[in-house]
Amino acid sequence: MRLLTAGESHGKGLIGIIEGFPSNVPINIDEINADMARRQQGHGRGGRMKIEKDKVEIMSGVRGGKTLGSPITYLIVNKDFENWRPYMDPIEPIDDGRRVTMPRPGHADLTGALKYRFDDVRNVLERSSARETAARVAGGSIVKQLLKPFGIEIHGHVVRIGSVSAPLSSTPEAPDWARVEASPVRCAVPEAEAEMMKAIDAAKASGDSLGGIFEIRVTGLPIGLGSYVQWDRKLDAKLAYALMSIQAIKGVEFGMGFEVAEQPGSQVHDEIVYSEEEGYHRLSNRAGGIEGGMSNGEPLVVRCAMKPIPTLYKPLKSVDMDTKEPRKASVERSDACAVPAATVVGEMVVAAVIGEALIEKLGGDSLEEMLERWKK
Ligand SMILES: Cc1cc2nc3c(=O)[nH]c(=O)nc-3n(C[C@H](O)[C@H](O)[C@H](O)COP(=O)(O)O)c2cc1C
Repeated sequence: MRLLTAGESHGKGLIGIIEGFPSNVPINIDEINADMARRQQGHGRGGRMKIEKDKVEIMSGVRGGKTLGSPITYLIVNKDFENWRPYMDPIEPIDDGRRVTMPRPGHADLTGALKYRFDDVRNVLERSSARETAARVAGGSIVKQLLKPFGIEIHGHVVRIGSVSAPLSSTPEAPDWARVEASPVRCAVPEAEAEMMKAIDAAKASGDSLGGIFEIRVTGLPIGLGSYVQWDRKLDAKLAYALMSIQAIKGVEFGMGFEVAEQPGSQVHDEIVYSEEEGYHRLSNRAGGIEGGMSNGEPLVVRCAMKPIPTLYKPLKSVDMDTKEPRKASVERSDACAVPAATVVGEMVVAAVIGEALIEKLGGDSLEEMLERWKK
């Protein structure tokens, strides 16, 4: 299975294509649109979120509410396009009024313009923008509907914004997901939530931005998704690749994460036990559910570090690419902090990787065939 996206931030719309998806999977469009709305929420998002209420229109691969096994394509119309038509029309000459020549430090602007030989940074930022993640959320949400009949669930929560961290970030227990959903920063801990919101407000007021850390947990996984036999079949490698591909993600860690480097083996590895009711299981889950590149039956726990948003309302130093004179970086309408939104993107990216691994493990052209082969 493969998920591809296309589309510019202020173009006509975003498009997704999912190839290799099994037939007869029930698709609920309301659930997809609910995930789209979850991506758009969060304290610290910029003005665009008020303009765009993303809705997904499925164009192919689904008939009467069930997948056909043929490529699924979908469209998310950019409601702002008519305002941007003079600057973004695919065919007509472009009005120069939105030309960008001062690249933003931390964004794809300068390197992208040099690489593709553009004199207008807009040609880069329109596609490098995290608006693209809307298409990945829609795709991941479709894949989540394949995971549902197998009882596989994926949730994410924010464990750090700037220097404020939620104390439960290193505990083995999952947070209260209903509390996370109700939180404006997707954080389950009320005291941390309040501090995070304050930190975002302070950053925003001073024209600055903040990053943070989110955690994704997956339950209901069978033993043996992924494989140790070849480097590019390892589940942790595939997850890290997919998560690192999310705009502004700069680190990925599983289970105990980087702390494994500090502790002796006895404090890192998860002891194995067996019981008639539970079969093989572990006394702890420091590995975060993956050993040897395979899911080991414990909950998958992965965390991502997101850097602060590059667009600053108090811009950093840059250079005008026309004159080579020192200037301040350009300012596009922007978020002050997008860690809560990135958490939803993380969930959907993980769903896509798990869906692909499940199809690889169970084969099957149809959902029925996959369920017949399913034995946890
Ligand atoms: C959900 C989400 C929202 C984002 N919103 C913005 C934004 O409003 N302004 C901005 O400059 N960067 C934003 N970013 C980050 C940039 O897209 C990203 O830093 C940029 O594409 C450069 O890629 P890199 O940081 O991975 O190197 C966002 C990222 C995510 C995941």
